[in-house]
Amino acid sequence: MKEIKIGLVGAGWMGKAHSSALADAQMLFGPDYGVASFEIVADANEESAKIAQHKIGFKRMSTDWKDVVTDPNVDLVDIATPNAFHYVVAKATLENGKNVYCEKPLSISAEESKELAELAAKKGVINYVGYNNTMNPANAYVRELVQSGKLGKIMRFTGTYDQDQLLDESLPITWRHINKLAGCGALGDLGSHLLSISQFIMGDISAVNAMTTTVFPKRPKSAGSSEMADVENEDIITFMAEYANGAVGTVAASRVATGRKNYLCYEIQGTKGSVRYDLERMGEVQVYFQSDDECDRGFRTVLLNPKMKGYSAFQPAGGISIAYNDMKILEVHELFAALTHNEPYACNFEFGYKIDRTVAAVLDSAKKRAWVEVK
Ligand SMILES: NC(=O)c1ccc[n+]([C@@H]2O[C@H](COP(=O)([O-])OP(=O)(O)OC[C@H]3O[C@@H](n4cnc5c(N)ncnc54)[C@H](O)[C@@H]3O)[C@@H](O)[C@H]2O)c1
Repeated sequence: MKEIKIGLVGAGWMGKAHSSALADAQMLFGPDYGVASFEIVADANEESAKIAQHKIGFKRMSTDWKDVVTDPNVDLVDIATPNAFHYVVAKATLENGKNVYCEKPLSISAEESKELAELAAKKGVINYVGYNNTMNPANAYVRELVQSGKLGKIMRFTGTYDQDQLLDESLPITWRHINKLAGCGALGDLGSHLLSISQFIMGDISAVNAMTTTVFPKRPKSAGSSEMADVENEDIITFMAEYANGAVGTVAASRVATGRKNYLCYEIQGTKGSVRYDLERMGEVQVYFQSDDECDRGFRTVLLNPKMKGYSAFQPAGGISIAYNDMKILEVHELFAALTHNEPYACNFEFGYKIDRTVAAVLDSAKKRAWVEVK
């Protein structure tokens, strides 16, 4: 059993999700993969840091992230701050020779992510980005269908990630609306997840042509205030994509998608079959194979089941629900397996940099209203 001492930076939604996943992973996978010990938490908001310390059981707390990255006891720095701080915290973590687990997106620019990916490779430490949708057993199954050739030659990807969390225009400005904190809007927040799945299953996007719109350009400065502040980034993004494997695609994301709660939905069409997945119906994958005797009836449903990578950690038989936090448990297990058993992992900083390169090309294309190559 190896103890892995965690230093958490940012104790909001994801800080809590990571911590509970770290505790659950040990229950499910056993202590041989490492046991998380909650050493220190830092949050810019003192009250949030205190609550996290009390609820999660961190030994110490701080309001300064530097106390975490310089702490000699910390083995793994877990970054769950707003996007803009990922770069500075991850860079300092790497410079101190520590392992790093960073929420997505890796940073707010392709340049920053490139620097982080290069520094991580140079330092030789574990460098993990939290693109948890790649851990969903459904997406692992789709990847296997695509990469084994069962769908034939892949012709087309269509996908959107839609939520209506910001449809209410009276909701105040948050860090997600301010570019120096978020980098961009729906694209970085939601679209990047879809890009991670697309990258994981289909490989690189080589060129994009995008457009954006901001439906609510102003929001109250704080809840109930009549003073308004500018929303600096897109509520909706949509773009055409050309894949390196020759497929064509359309990709979109919206944070004001009326009626959509967590609609990460995509379809991949190949010459021998097609597949469709919707995260609002997490337990079901729709498949169609030309070779099926009954293919005339159209798509059929495959329920998540133990043959799919990751599923059997939770359930012994098919069709039993798994949920969002389970993806995070699989993610921290993969991270711990890398730390303690040197096992491979896909979502390293290089992967994060690939996503951020695509994000940068999409934003550039929307600005220029033209096709842009993903460099
Ligand atoms: N993987 C996913 O599915 C997923 C889901 C939601 C959010 N995220 C990502 O997680 C990150 C955090 O998002 P969230 O929804 O948890 O945000 P949040 O607003 O709930 O929490 C962020 C926390 O960071 C703290 N903070 C802000 N600046 C800080 C600083 N300089 N030092 C220390 N703490 C600081 C805030 O006080 C807050 O407690 C974002 O990068 C976001 O993109 C990922």
